[in-house]
Amino acid sequence: MDAEEFRVQGKSMIDFVAKYREEIGLYRVTPTVEPGYLRDLIPMEPPEYPENWKDIMDDTKSKIMVGMTHWQHPRFHAYFPSGASYPSILADIVGDVVGCIGFSWASGPACTELEGIMLDWLAKMMNLPPEFMHATPGSKGGGCIQTSASECVLVSILAARALAIQALKRKNPDQDEGAMLSQLIAYCSKEAHSCVEKGAMIAFVKLRILETDDEFSLRGGTLQKAIEQDRAAGLYPFFVSTTVGTTSCCSADNLTEIGPICKEYDIWLHVDAAYAGGSQICEEFRYLFDGIQYAWSVNTNANKWLLTNFDCSCFWVKDRYKLTQALVVDPLYLQHSHSEESIDYRHWGIPLSRRFRALKLWFVIRIYGVEGLRKYIRNHVALAKSFENKVKQDPRFEIMNKVQLGLVCFRMKGSNQMNQKLLSTINASGKLHMVPASLNDKYVIRFCVCREEACESDMVYAWEVIKAVATEIEKTEVGSEPSSPVPEPVRRMSKETQDILKGLSERRFTLARQTSTINEIIARASVDMTDDEVMLPRSRRGSLFPACAFIDDFAGANERERRASLMDLGLDKMGASSFRRQSDSSVTGIRVPSGSSSFHEHEVIEEGEESVPDNGKPSSETNNEI
Ligand SMILES: Cc1ncc(COP(=O)(O)O)c(C=O)c1O
Repeated sequence: MDAEEFRVQGKSMIDFVAKYREEIGLYRVTPTVEPGYLRDLIPMEPPEYPENWKDIMDDTKSKIMVGMTHWQHPRFHAYFPSGASYPSILADIVGDVVGCIGFSWASGPACTELEGIMLDWLAKMMNLPPEFMHATPGSKGGGCIQTSASECVLVSILAARALAIQALKRKNPDQDEGAMLSQLIAYCSKEAHSCVEKGAMIAFVKLRILETDDEFSLRGGTLQKAIEQDRAAGLYPFFVSTTVGTTSCCSADNLTEIGPICKEYDIWLHVDAAYAGGSQICEEFRYLFDGIQYAWSVNTNANKWLLTNFDCSCFWVKDRYKLTQALVVDPLYLQHSHSEESIDYRHWGIPLSRRFRALKLWFVIRIYGVEGLRKYIRNHVALAKSFENKVKQDPRFEIMNKVQLGLVCFRMKGSNQMNQKLLSTINASGKLHMVPASLNDKYVIRFCVCREEACESDMVYAWEVIKAVATEIEKTEVGSEPSSPVPEPVRRMSKETQDILKGLSERRFTLARQTSTINEIIARASVDMTDDEVMLPRSRRGSLFPACAFIDDFAGANERERRASLMDLGLDKMGASSFRRQSDSSVTGIRVPSGSSSFHEHEVIEEGEESVPDNGKPSSETNNEI
């Protein structure tokens, strides 16, 4: 493609983008495709010879757009917002055209310097303590842009780990570093994002997951007790990851209580405000950051709630030397003559290569102005409040979180299963898209205000859809948990199938919360299994799955919904996975491996029938995996 063709196609691409955004409401918010759909549409071999632009764009429309979940859709209320404003898209074009890989000041002076200035701008907008800013006289701190909140948490753990090992070495210079590592323990609450667990796993340190109070907030007393117990047991507490704006319910840990404890024990305190950080540009939400002066590091994703497109995870530290000492390697070929007076951001994170992402912040903050961004945040919060009021007025429903920002967690008063059905029916209808969370073992539905131009009529529409589906569900549901612990589990079943399941039913599976038999598990799913609905397929990978329970309710549900249900039943803990039948993709179910060799003789009931796993492996996704 030469410059002339780029000009022509570039203009048509901008038209395509603007049209997509204008007409987005015409699409279904979620697609109807099943896993593997694209394999049938795209050639298995790459093209040997050049293809023309029109064919590529036609395919993009007919093959790619039909398989998209539309995050900017007015009916999208899942996860958290994903910023994708026009100015940030345009800024990315500039970043892409210069193609700068800004790992050092010399590799892109403007790229490095703009990043520092933008992180100072944002720190000021959010009212972060001056120690987090580059430009504060005498400051050792500052900010940078990472790819994701998960990375911010990981590098904080790595930095804190390096400091802790140093401290232990000073006390006991002859001790082996491996032994020191085994003493380290980090903390977070049970509502923290799973990236904390992942970070601890990568860093090979212990993580203690703590209980929260009734408002899902980690309190100082709980942390203090855990630290004292662990110290008494010979462990070395070194890192606390707190959250302001938890993924499940947007709760906030109590920094004013936690901060002084971290200070007393010289523990690195990180604040993960991936979503909620954006709210700090509005004075009325600053109470959520009370105690932030105790933090050693903070992150917020501008690509969530500050109208900036992915990736743009903003990360600040109070002492950059404490961060970089864990991450610096300095080969000769990356050194330059200005190393002393400038920042080389490659030392602030894991990758060497870095995109020119600060441009997006620069464009966005200038186009909207801080006031424009405040207006956007306040609109989302007001709409969430409006939605909350609608839910509160209907006695069939209950609100499950303290609605402080743009997320409302609600459920129908009744069983988890009823709520799971409510959500899966709504999602399958394509009229709205929401995701679930688990709060105190209750299945709740998360409704997040996401769209940039969200307005009251979106709330009204969403609530009408939810109410209508709830009414339908009420007609078919008694609305209570199974009354007897082991109800009649399996009905209308052939002798052969009964024999197979009898063996299974005698095995007890230890799940996260309780020990259950397969019958209890099936009963909890309230399924009415017929002969056809129980089979013993041979998996594509050749291993045996001796029992396979089809669950009617799942017909039509998409993969995410099936996997959410699977988690709700606790079946993921025993290696179960959800799937669809290859010969008839409307038949979907949950595959429950028995692990018992006595069933191998029954391995194939429906000769030649194969089932396709939803994701190729058992699900381990958690509610907080957003
Ligand atoms: C509180 C919190 N932390 C971390 C993450 C992970 O974010 P990322 O995808 O940027 O790693 C999320 C995602 O929603 C989140 O809500």
